[in-house]
Parts: sequence; structure tokens; C-alpha cells
Amino acid sequence: MSLRLGDVAPNFKAKTTEGEIDFYEYLGTGWGILFSHPADYTPVCTTELGRTALLKEEFAKRNVKVLAVSVDPLDKHLGWRSDINETQNCSVDFPIIADESREVANLYDMIHPNASETFTVRSLFIIGPDKKVKLMITYPASTGRNFYEVLRVIDSLQLTASYSVATPADWKHGEDVIVVPAVSTEDALKKFEKGINIIKPYLRYTPQPNLN
Ligand code: BEZ
Repeated sequence: MSLRLGDVAPNFKAKTTEGEIDFYEYLGTGWGILFSHPADYTPVCTTELGRTALLKEEFAKRNVKVLAVSVDPLDKHLGWRSDINETQNCSVDFPIIADESREVANLYDMIHPNASETFTVRSLFIIGPDKKVKLMITYPASTGRNFYEVLRVIDSLQLTASYSVATPADWKHGEDVIVVPAVSTEDALKKFEKGINIIKPYLRYTPQPNLN
């Protein structure tokens, strides 16, 4: 049975480029991103892991730990990591799981047999501090993921976790957000001190609450 939003993300122990890890211990009390790629020494994957390394500060600011996974062995990961660092001008220091046994791939349903019998697809999970799955995306091997979009989703999830707001289409950090339907307009007027803009009774905007 595959995972669904709100499910508890399964824990595992794994061999990685940063040593043996226990997933939950690695995540600690913060947020996590677990993402799979089809194979080492492939061009799109090289750019994805490079971009993730270059966004290290952005993930750290949001208290997010990242963890990559493929079914290639550790020695291959280590050689490929040097290539990523060289070609992408970065320093990959997040763990890359060597999932030769496919334990993680199976736990997270990352092998889609109609795409490939053997390789993981480009799955990505955002996991909250409660260890629950907050987002799942799956891309084909030929399309590199947009890691700025992943950061944008984390910003949205973190806002939702702290305030009674949701974020509209194409929202970016700093733009107005939406008051969730569960909050009455009467309560919203008290709760959101920057005010609310009522377009329709169900469509109410307020300035992003965690900005001065
Ligand atoms: C890549 O990462 O470039 C890739 C991997 C598998 C199939 C196609 C592209």
C-alpha cells in the first residue's frame, strides 16, 4: 500500500555517504525532504543534487534536512559525488542513501514498474516535525525537479502550521495569503491584525502574518 498525505513517514536505517543513519534520528525535531533519483552518473540527477547542495542555506533557514536515495551502491555514490561537486560548483554534504536492497524504495513506493522495473523514479516527500508526510511529488526520469518550488511549498506548509492561513496559486514569500474557510470573518478580523481583504465570503486575503 503506498503512502498518502498525512500518513506517518516510515522510519528506516540506511547506509549513506555520511555513514549509517536512522532516518528519524537524522531528522530530529525539524522538517525533512527525502528524494529519490533514478541512477548515479546521469545528467539530470547530477544537476538536481547539485542544486540541492547549493540551496543548503535555504534549507537550513527553514530547519529542513535533506536526504537523497537511489539503488546504486555506496562506492558509486562516492565517486559520483565528486563529479557533482566538480561540475555543479558545490559541496554535497547531505547523505545519499545506497539503497541496494531497495528497502527505502519499497517503503516509499519509489519504484514504478511501468516506468522502470529496477530504478527509482523522481519521488520527493516533505515530512513534517510530526513525521507525517506533507507533500509527495513524482516526476519522470527525464524532467529535473524545481527545488525553488520545493522551498516555496515548505514556506507555505510552515505558514499553515503556525497560522490559520493557506496560500493561493503561484504564491511567493511576501505576498498576501488566504484566510482558511474554518475561520469565520468575525474571528479573522480579531486574529489578523494587519486586516483582511474580503473578495467573497469564502475568499479572504490577509498580508503574510509572519512578516513585519
Ligand atoms: C538523468 O538523470 O539524466 C536521467 C536518468 C534516467 C533517465 C533519463 C535521464
